[in-house]
Amino acid sequence: MKAPFQFGSLAEKENFIDRVDDRALLKQLLMSGIHVMLISPRRWGKSSLVKAVGEELMAENKNVRVCYIDAFSISTETEFYRVFASRVMSCAVSRFKKGVEEMKKFITGAVPQLVIRDKVTEFVTFDLRFQPQEKDKLEILELPEKIAAAKGLRIIVCIDEFQQLANIPQYPDMEGKMRSVWQQQHNVSYCMYGSKRHMMTEIFNDSTKPFYRFGQVIWLKKIEERYWVEFIVKAFERTGKSITTEFAKRICDVTKCHSWYVQQLSFFIWNATDSQVTEEIFNRALQRLIDTNAPMFQNDVEQLTASQKAMLHAVNNGNYQFAAEATKRMYAMGNANTIARNKRILQDKDYIEQKGTRFDFVDPIFQLWFNQEYSN
Ligand SMILES: Nc1ncnc2c1ncn2[C@@H]1O[C@H](COP(=O)(O)OP(=O)(O)O)[C@@H](O)[C@H]1O
Ligand SMILES: [Mg+2]
Repeated sequence: MKAPFQFGSLAEKENFIDRVDDRALLKQLLMSGIHVMLISPRRWGKSSLVKAVGEELMAENKNVRVCYIDAFSISTETEFYRVFASRVMSCAVSRFKKGVEEMKKFITGAVPQLVIRDKVTEFVTFDLRFQPQEKDKLEILELPEKIAAAKGLRIIVCIDEFQQLANIPQYPDMEGKMRSVWQQQHNVSYCMYGSKRHMMTEIFNDSTKPFYRFGQVIWLKKIEERYWVEFIVKAFERTGKSITTEFAKRICDVTKCHSWYVQQLSFFIWNATDSQVTEEIFNRALQRLIDTNAPMFQNDVEQLTASQKAMLHAVNNGNYQFAAEATKRMYAMGNANTIARNKRILQDKDYIEQKGTRFDFVDPIFQLWFNQEYSN
């Protein structure tokens, strides 16, 4: 039987829940030519949301084309321009032969040297084997607008994990070019989204940076408990099993409605249940959730210094006055400079977040693991 819960791939179809307002807003903005910067911690549902919006827009309007670029795997400037050009061209052509000739018109310098046709999807992919020169770079960034205007299309360019581009040494140059070219485009909308909140904020909310006020910044929220509870209860029913509303709520409580963890914990519980969820099944599944994710947490923590770990302990115990003498001594947090730096690093890396005067762990399962790991 196919499991009614899913994680590790994008949420789709009956697995995609809620996000009604986010979807409507995103569609409206992108169709109006307003660029969107979508930000949330990892695995809350950005990629799934943007994909769902893209599909809806293309289904509703045959003149809309959406292309997806994953910046996570891009590590050089050349690679960025190649992938950008290739994705934009592929999304705009439907038929093979004609498409290739057509695209050659749009790029004079950077002629695609190799064209691959994907046998399974019949999609065309362009592999540009060239080192972009200064003028090619601008030409490539202008590409979506040229194609969109010539073919009467609205092109939506989605760039996932956008903040990764900031790690490229030439990023300041790229950023300036992107902004100046893209802001003149009328038939293209950009949707940039990413998980590293601090980095995204630095790129889009800093008045000295090119992308300041480039478009609408949206802080994606979590899906609310009531939607999850309904989804979980129905998914069990549909597959001949049953879970009480109380247990469904406990799944949401313990995962703090974090999309990935709700799906993963629900899956473990569902998998261990023959007919009815019990206390024992619930507890064992929760431990399995912690254990499954432990290698990732372990790996994360290994990258931290002793004083950074000390700060996590302090947050975990609710001691937010890091600079207070007693706290400093109890947790060996280092001097004032170290404390200030660690506070920034741990927030940059999304381990902790500040809420008024308090700090919280961003990842609820990481906190459970942390508690178990250092419980004595
Ligand atoms: N709208 C949704 N409905 C149900 N599950 C979702 C939804 N959005 C995300 N998820 C769950 O969360 C996981 C992570 O989602 P993803 O879109 O990859 O997040 P992000 O891009 O923010 O890291 C998905 O694999 C899925 O299990
Ligand atoms: Mg994602």
